[in-house]
Amino acid sequence: MDYLAQIDKKKTPVHVAIIMDGNGRWAKKQGHERLYGHNFGVESVREVLKASTDLGIKYLTLYAFSTENWNRPKEEVDGLMDLLVRSIANEIDELMSSDVRLLTIGDTEGLPASCQAELKSAMAKTENNKTINLVLALNYSSRWEITNALKQISRKVSSGEIKEADVNDQLISDHLTTKGIPDPELIIRTSGEHRLSNFLLWQAAYSEFYFCEVLWPDFKREDLFKAVLDYQSRERRFGMVSEQLT
Ligand code: FPP
Repeated sequence: MDYLAQIDKKKTPVHVAIIMDGNGRWAKKQGHERLYGHNFGVESVREVLKASTDLGIKYLTLYAFSTENWNRPKEEVDGLMDLLVRSIANEIDELMSSDVRLLTIGDTEGLPASCQAELKSAMAKTENNKTINLVLALNYSSRWEITNALKQISRKVSSGEIKEADVNDQLISDHLTTKGIPDPELIIRTSGEHRLSNFLLWQAAYSEFYFCEVLWPDFKREDLFKAVLDYQSRERRFGMVSEQLT
């Protein structure tokens, strides 16, 4: 089926966020170590980024490493950090020629120095690119992010910089690491798991969710188109009733 032909380009989501899950199971199924799956996962990242650009999506956020992922075996954590550094170095020319801006969310100061340096350099190089923003969630978790925002806000209230009455939705959003990034209209999770795993909990207030059985290394262009098509079939009411939406 040609999913792309059925997509209404005028109604594509501005921001799609993806929980890339299933790399380990994919590798195991082929008799390999988990890192083999992560390596192939990078191919899916490349393909989905290109497909997102073709659809006119402006923000693609990928959950690449959570604050809880540090608890994995050291060999896997080191391998993932190394893969991240190598992937960014390998892809920087492509990011430039495709006009992709690289951003991160999460506590990136907690990443190894080599990772921070590679990210800093790639973000600086791509900062004026405009076609699409590739947002990598690294050492990210919503509870960390919300706690961090609450600390910043309470400090400002205590010092008198802001008043308690100034605290509202927008002010909280502006203290999250996603500041300036619109909330995702669509959140995709691969591999058959149906949970958010501490990802964009605040930002997902009105997101549509799409869960599919496909393991991340098998998630390709057509799978993204299928998810967007499914999203376009939904009625987003934002707490209102159908009749109010005309
Ligand atoms: C989840 O699968 C995947 C991750 C924790 C890492 C995702 C990383 C990549 C796809 C590669 C690096 C990305 C970039 C942006 C260069 P899992 O290991 O939890 O799989 P499982 O549930 O089958 O064990």
